Amino acid sequence: MSEGTRSHWGSKAGFVLAAAGSAVGLGNLWKFPYITGENGGGAFVLVYLACILLVGVPIMVGEVFVGKLAQKGPVGAFGDLTPRGSPWKLVGALGVVTGFVILSYYSVVAGWAMHYVLLAARGTFSGADTPEEIAAIGAHFGALYADPTLNVLWHVAFMAITIAIVIAGVQKGVERAGRVLMPALLVVLAALAAYAATLSGFGRAVSFVFGLHTEDLTGAGVLEALGHSFFTLSLGMGAMITYGSYLRREDGVVATSFVISGLDTGVALLACLALFPITFTYGMEPAAGPGLVFVNMPTAFAQMPGGSVWATLFFVLLTFAALTSAVSLLEVVASYFIDELGWSRPRAVAVLGVAILLFGIPSALSGGTELFGSGFSTAIAGALGQERGKNWFDGLDYLASNWMLPLGGLGLALFAGWRLDDVKRRAALSEGGTFGRIVPLYLGWLWLLRIVAPIAIVLVMLHAIGLL
Ligand code: TRP
Repeated sequence: MSEGTRSHWGSKAGFVLAAAGSAVGLGNLWKFPYITGENGGGAFVLVYLACILLVGVPIMVGEVFVGKLAQKGPVGAFGDLTPRGSPWKLVGALGVVTGFVILSYYSVVAGWAMHYVLLAARGTFSGADTPEEIAAIGAHFGALYADPTLNVLWHVAFMAITIAIVIAGVQKGVERAGRVLMPALLVVLAALAAYAATLSGFGRAVSFVFGLHTEDLTGAGVLEALGHSFFTLSLGMGAMITYGSYLRREDGVVATSFVISGLDTGVALLACLALFPITFTYGMEPAAGPGLVFVNMPTAFAQMPGGSVWATLFFVLLTFAALTSAVSLLEVVASYFIDELGWSRPRAVAVLGVAILLFGIPSALSGGTELFGSGFSTAIAGALGQERGKNWFDGLDYLASNWMLPLGGLGLALFAGWRLDDVKRRAALSEGGTFGRIVPLYLGWLWLLRIVAPIAIVLVMLHAIGLL
């Protein structure tokens, strides 16, 4: 498609906000704290930061600029930039499948956030004083997790809203949402972290998140840190290729990638600083698993002045952060059918949205049914000859985040680093910024993309499966 007919961002800020909206989501506020808790804190955080800087940022630059160069989503971009029939297209196709899988369970967690908006607004999280009352706050999550009907209903509700926004199209839907909500989220999170700093457990929380406890780190933990650096930056499946494809020639990509990555990492660390002081102040477990944010934050809200208001605000913003991310996942999947198969936007979005919704139902049933929950994990454990398996929900998250995204990222790094024509690559990076013209910077990036990122990804994977 020519640049004239493809829709573009209304402004550069529109792109930054939408891309940041994609990056900042449940990954930062729900997943990062809980996997940090499970992996013992400090050392895991450090590996994660190294992955962001050495692998994530170079690949982010690569994705955005491949999208901008091709003016297409992942499949079209790999297809257009290579000769006909080239296997590179498969990397794009893997991305579309990955997006499909991730959104199917992402929507379930977003549904939990919506349920918590209602609970908070009803005043559920206020005025708890006795230990029994405080324990009762945490018990709400267990009840929700085990309720198949509620999980399915909220999952359907969240998918319906996501579908409606993506049908509205790039500028009207995606761009508008990011503009107001990102700043609001930052302000509320900073206020909650400031409150957390007054709690008695703050010191322990800081040393948990930033102290080095290398003995707690495992090969699986390193893989998880790598996988999460892709997940949290929305990399490895072409979301940033798709968003980059709505950029104009004159828009730069490098400074923007740094801003987005910095913002995303800042939000994740801030979330830990708001959350773990609560964990340690009230003697709760850092390794509480996927329920962490839904148990720990309400415990503090229940004792804060104006707790109901803070709680409602927090879960509303969590829901919106999830929404701007979900929108980017559905956008990638749908834009494949729009750009490559010529479907109309409403048709592509509705059909794929409903397919993802249906595929997500087992995830919504993983907490409350034997079939996709405990029975499923026992069967998986048996099949793999291991002691403990994962239920449907955890298994999909594990596969998609830890394997599919890093594989997609590896493909992108090799493609942008080795396959693309150097003259084109350099010219494209020089438009809208000075980066391509500053030789050491350009070569440094190229070296990270060609050598460091691919080797890191392969080593981490080999290590995780015990081959190293
Ligand atoms: N980055 C989002 C988060 O942290 C999730 C997400 C949105 C995503 N789009 C993506 C993850 C594309 C991987 C790929 O919640």
